[in-house]
This record gives sequence, structure tokens and C-alpha cells, in this order.
Amino acid sequence: MFGMVREGITFDDVLLIPRRSRVFSRKIIDTKTKLSKNISLNIPIVSANMDTVTDARMARAMAEAGGIGIIHRFLSIEDQVAQVRKVKRAENVLIEDPLSVSPEDSLRDIRSIIKREDVSSVLVIGTSGKLEGIITARDLLFEDGDEKLAHEVMTKKVITASHKISLQNARAILHKYKIEKLPLVDKVGRVVGLMTLRDIVKHMNNPLTAKDTKGRLLAGAAVGVKEDMLERAKKLVSAGADVIVVDVAHGHNVRVLEAVRLLRKIFGKKIDIIAGNIATKEAAIDLIRAGVDGLKVGIGPGAACTTRIVTGVGIPQLTAIQDVVTATRKFKIPVIADGGVKNSGNFSKALAAGASSVMIGSLLAGCTESPGAYIMDRGVAYKYYRGMASYEAGDEKARIDGSGGDGFMRVPEGASGKVPFRGETAMVLRDLVAGLRSSMSYLGACNLSEFHKNAEFIRVTAAGVYESKPHGIE
Ligand code: XMP
Repeated sequence: MFGMVREGITFDDVLLIPRRSRVFSRKIIDTKTKLSKNISLNIPIVSANMDTVTDARMARAMAEAGGIGIIHRFLSIEDQVAQVRKVKRAENVLIEDPLSVSPEDSLRDIRSIIKREDVSSVLVIGTSGKLEGIITARDLLFEDGDEKLAHEVMTKKVITASHKISLQNARAILHKYKIEKLPLVDKVGRVVGLMTLRDIVKHMNNPLTAKDTKGRLLAGAAVGVKEDMLERAKKLVSAGADVIVVDVAHGHNVRVLEAVRLLRKIFGKKIDIIAGNIATKEAAIDLIRAGVDGLKVGIGPGAACTTRIVTGVGIPQLTAIQDVVTATRKFKIPVIADGGVKNSGNFSKALAAGASSVMIGSLLAGCTESPGAYIMDRGVAYKYYRGMASYEAGDEKARIDGSGGDGFMRVPEGASGKVPFRGETAMVLRDLVAGLRSSMSYLGACNLSEFHKNAEFIRVTAAGVYESKPHGIE
């Protein structure tokens, strides 16, 4: 089959054509979007399900800023579930299952729970299920040893409220008693929830935060298509994951289609399912027929990808987005443009081409909230970043699942290295969204659907690319 060779283009091959605009203030621009059929985001950014990008801390930062993080799958089921739980518990106006200890638990156990779960307090609950006390960071501050028991250090006089209390009333009680935690109890005094001052204030002050219907931060989780897929997905959903992303390098594969059908059958409409990665109309249609709620597009554009070099396979990212968006429009299935975004201009072009959101790896890998510490190299700060099909990631995966490697990492399709340290995720996201808002105002668009409708691309030559960058200045 060697017919006409199509041309594929990517972000830097084009520019967006400015047009008449009535947008004077970027504040009126709305960046709301859909991640998938039933999940809305306030900013169109998703952090990549990679082990140097998204664990609980990054997912939390993403949701707080209005986007979402997809917890990677290169860890045991238990560890991935724990990461999802951490996000769902993180900023939660009503915590339904507050962490608790028994009055006989030692400080050693309590400190380890607080550290593991990344919380600042635990409730002390007796065998009858009744609240006996609370242990907060303040109770632990001057306790040097580990041997004392919970009932010896807890604060015994605890203000509680009914589980039916409104947010406003809870806030008033917290204010009146100058306390930070408000355990909620049922008629017979059993603990059924917890409200915290910090989360209530955050909830009221930050309208952008992306939340589920219970007011918890959004979190997604990735699964593969190997034997443990269903067990992993079930446990992730029980832990509160809002969306399951079936993620393999070649998403147009019968095993992915089977996995999507199975997940749909098991979960019905309880959960959104996204699948990828793909780059063609045919793949999009097959996955939509299998039952997906969202599609992830990108074969080989990522910063750490070597798929195109190793296999000669791929589609330049802008063409891939346009092809898939054209095929999915009538089904109203949102598209996530995954990979290759180097700056807010690329980010804007992906959305202008019709993607509903953009998945980002390397730009976020350099943030404070990505896994791992930063490294200093000759006075400059970096963080580690690696492709999930790199030799290094494959090696570690083999260690985790005990497979000893299946030979795949002998032909890695990903690179590893370091990326500049960029500071807080919130700041990086703010800059990306500011660039997008500006781009939208050039196109006279107040929301993302107008942006896509108004978008017209112009091809640029090599001289045009040179002209687009700062030049002639020292
Ligand atoms: P960026 O450019 O944002 O891209 O760093 C992130 C995306 O890259 C994909 N990815 C890979 N692709 N080999 C590949 O060909 C790999 O080892 C690899 N690891 C990640 C993935 O889609 C991610 O979201």
C-alpha cells in the first residue's frame, strides 16, 4: 500500500491567524472544558500519567488549579490506590472516612499514619465507635518520645456537630471556638465525618478548584491491559478515582478495545473511561464504539519519546489532533492532546485545533510537586524526567511486578534525562493559562468552543519559524 503520501504538520509548522476581536479583558475569557463526557475541568490541563510527573502531590496541585492529574500505573495496585486516596482526602469539605486510631495506639503508630497519609490530625475512636478525642499537630508538637498512647496525648474535649450541618454553620462553629477540625457525629455519637477549617476556607476562596460531586478534588488513574487490569481498575474506582485511563503506547489494539468493553460492562455509567494513545480517525471510531468517554491522542510527539526514531511510526501532533477531532465531533467525545507541548503557544494551538484538554509531561516534571527531589548540577536546578518506555522505566517496572523484564526494554521507545526545575505547579499552570487567554483574545474567543471555531492556521516556512523567535538581539 504505497499511495499518495499525506503531509502531517505539528505545532511549530503553523501559527494562528489573528482576527477581529471584541475581547478587551482577558478576565471574561472562560477556560472551562470537558476532560471526558461527564467530567468538567476549569482549566484544560492534565498532568501525564508518568512516574516522574504524577503521583498524589501533583494530582492535588493540578485539581486545586482547576485541572486534573492522572496517577501513573507503574506501581503496585496497593500503592496506586493509596495515591488516589490521598488526593480524595486532601481537600475535602466533608471527609466521609476520617482517619482514626484507637485510644491504645502508640505515638509511633500515630506518627507513621500521619506521615503516610499526609494529614495533620487523627480522631481517637473507642471500640463502641464513639469519639473519645482528637490528636492534632499541636498535640504532638512537644511530645518527644514514641511510647505514649493516644489517650494520654489526645485533646479530650472535642467540639462536634451533627452530620447534617451546613457549610455556613460549620464555618461559624469553627470560628466561634477558634478550632480547626470539626468531627461530625450521628444521633448516637458515632463519628460519620470531619470538616476542616482549611478546606472550608480553600473551598470558599478558590472557585477554580476541580471537584467531584462530593466536593473532593478530582483524580484520575491509569491502568494497562495486562492481567491485573480489572482488579486494579475496581480498586481504583472504590478508592474514589473519577476516571480510568486505559493507557498503552498503541491504543488502537484489540486488547485495548476489549479492555474498554470490559470496563464499560463492569462499571456501566458509574465511571468515565478514557483510552489511548491513538493518532487516527479509525482508532477513534473503534474506541468510541467500544464505549470510551474520552480519547488520548499522540503517537510520538512527547519530549521523552523515541517511538518515531525507533519504529518510524507516528503522526505529527497537530495533524493527529485535527484528524481525531474531525472523527469524534459528531459523537461529542472530548479529545486530550497528549505530548509535545513546549510552551503556551503549542498549548494554545492544540486547543485551537479542537482538543478539549492537553496532557503535559516534561513541563510539569520540573515542578516542585512532581515526584522526586530536585538535583543541582553546576549551580543549576533540575528534576529527573523519563519516558515510560525508556530503558530506566522498564527496568524499574520489571522490579516492581517481578517479571524480570520481558525484553521490551532492550528496544526502548523513550529517553530519560533532566528538565529545568520550574518551581510550583500552580505558577507553571498560571503562565500556560495566561498565554492561552491571550491567544483566545487574539482570535476573538470568549470560550474554548469559540476558540476552535475561530481558529485558522497558516503554514510557516523555516524563515517564519526563525522570525517567530527573538532574533538579532544579544
Ligand atoms: P511531553 O512532551 O509533555 O509528553 O513530555 C508527555 C507524553 O509523552 C508520552 N510518553 C512517551 N512516548 N515513549 C513514547 O513514545 C515513552 O517512553 C513515553 N513516555 C511518555 C506520553 O503520552 C506522555 O503523556
